[in-house]
Amino acid sequence: MEDAAQAHGAEIDGRRVGTFGKLACFSFYPGKNLGAYGDAGAIVTNDESLAVRCRMIADHGRVINTDHDIEGMNSRLDGLQGAILSVKLHHLDAWTERRRRPRRALRRTASGQRVATPAVAPGMRHVYHLYAVRMPDRDVVQAALKGGGDRHGGALSDRTAQTGGLPYLSPPAGGFPGGEPLCRRTPGLPMFPK
Ligand SMILES: Cc1ncc(COP(=O)(O)O)c(C=O)c1O
Repeated sequence: MEDAAQAHGAEIDGRRVGTFGKLACFSFYPGKNLGAYGDAGAIVTNDESLAVRCRMIADHGRVINTDHDIEGMNSRLDGLQGAILSVKLHHLDAWTERRRRPRRALRRTASGQRVATPAVAPGMRHVYHLYAVRMPDRDVVQAALKGGGDRHGGALSDRTAQTGGLPYLSPPAGGFPGGEPLCRRTPGLPMFPK
């Protein structure tokens, strides 16, 4: 299953993400590269039986509205969101290009500073939902930016849900020694098509 929530239009060796797994999930949360005006998302698959099953789960476990075959949920895409997404979809490629445009200038500006910009492996086409950089003085820089800069999250192990004692959500003993220090050094720069 591919989590392509932030990756609309990204490619690996010329092939679009969302086509690698049995299933792929896209988020259309308003801030995403293709965003609705409220919460929305989609699952894509080439497997007809999985498609049927996903539709059932999203529609209270039913195929026809007089019977429920399995336990499902209400996760239908609202028609209004669908209409908005259909219009915005035509602009996605142009908006993606605009997101990609500043990357060279950002990299040039960062070079020689103590700032690491995202590495791009050969064959990868990034769509920069976020532009996360890494710097030793994240909090100082962020405080100096007008408006405090972009908001940033933390490690999973900082979350109340994770630290609240539920065993299945608890971080492993020793936490995440790789991820936690990275989180403290990684602000996301504001990144939008405009
Ligand atoms: C990588 C990734 N996976 C999953 C999600 C969840 O998407 P949604 O908010 O539409 O449920 C998000 C969005 O926040 C995301 O960025």
